[in-house]
Amino acid sequence: MIENAAPPLFPLNISRAEFVAKDIRLFEFRRNDGGELPVFTAGAHVSVCVSNGDTRKYSLCNNPSERERYVIALKRESGGRGGSKSLVDTANTGDVLPVSAPKNDFELKDIAAGYVFIAGGIGITPVLSMVRHLRSHGRAKFKLYYLSRSREDAAFADELSAPEFRGVVKLHYDSGNPAQMFDLWPILQQARGAHLYCCGPRGLMQSVRDMTGHWSSEALHFESFVEASATHLIEDSAFVVHLARSGGSIEVPKDKSILETLREQGVKTLSSCESGSCGTCRTLLLAGDADHRDLVLTDEERANHIMICVSRARTGDLTIDA
Ligand code: FES
Repeated sequence: MIENAAPPLFPLNISRAEFVAKDIRLFEFRRNDGGELPVFTAGAHVSVCVSNGDTRKYSLCNNPSERERYVIALKRESGGRGGSKSLVDTANTGDVLPVSAPKNDFELKDIAAGYVFIAGGIGITPVLSMVRHLRSHGRAKFKLYYLSRSREDAAFADELSAPEFRGVVKLHYDSGNPAQMFDLWPILQQARGAHLYCCGPRGLMQSVRDMTGHWSSEALHFESFVEASATHLIEDSAFVVHLARSGGSIEVPKDKSILETLREQGVKTLSSCESGSCGTCRTLLLAGDADHRDLVLTDEERANHIMICVSRARTGDLTIDA
């Protein structure tokens, strides 16, 4: 969970590549010699360096007990920075790509009494690894709500519609119509000691976050691979942050995060997801009016904490413990 260093990458072969839904392509990676890969746990991701030079994070969706392969599935994002598009369009079986060792910011807690999984679209990938892990260990006390636009858009829908998942997995298609969106409130209104894992579009995660204010923050887990730049709004403006511990002040430009600006100034910080979902960059907020954009802090915690990878000042300056 260190911030500055890019993860070391090692070359892996693409041993399988196939479309598993509309615009979603699955890639299986193996070592050239067929040997074991670094171990991973359910919910982990790897970074992949794609042909246009971008390095992007993708969740592993296979069972962590499989030691010889990593499997990812990604959606071709035509409006993105080009990393996923490049991989979906150009990578093929037999290609060799640099891949990092797995890292997990979305760890499945083994101590949970039960699990509620909510996956939106391609957010199914880390959740699928969790479901496969739980099933292979005979722990079926979970419910998965998999929300997608249509069956055609839903990767792994056939597997998750199999008889063994009856009563455990709910697939819902809304045709992109807000009036047909799945009502999550009946599921979330009582926490019942379960742990909740949610991965999907930012809007889905934000509404799940809003509906779970009464859950213990320890039981809530969100995964977002949205780049920090995607959390910037057109109306954002520069603001000043005073650093109580190291002294001095920095000006955060309108198109950069506090974290990025601190990093550029050589101030040491911890971070991991850099999308407001893992909790690593939590920093004491000593003064100021923050615009909280994370999926981690409760309303109470927001009074004196800030996630510096995504959150900004609403008005005036901020003072943080950095
Ligand atoms: S680095 Fe994960 S919430 Fe900020």
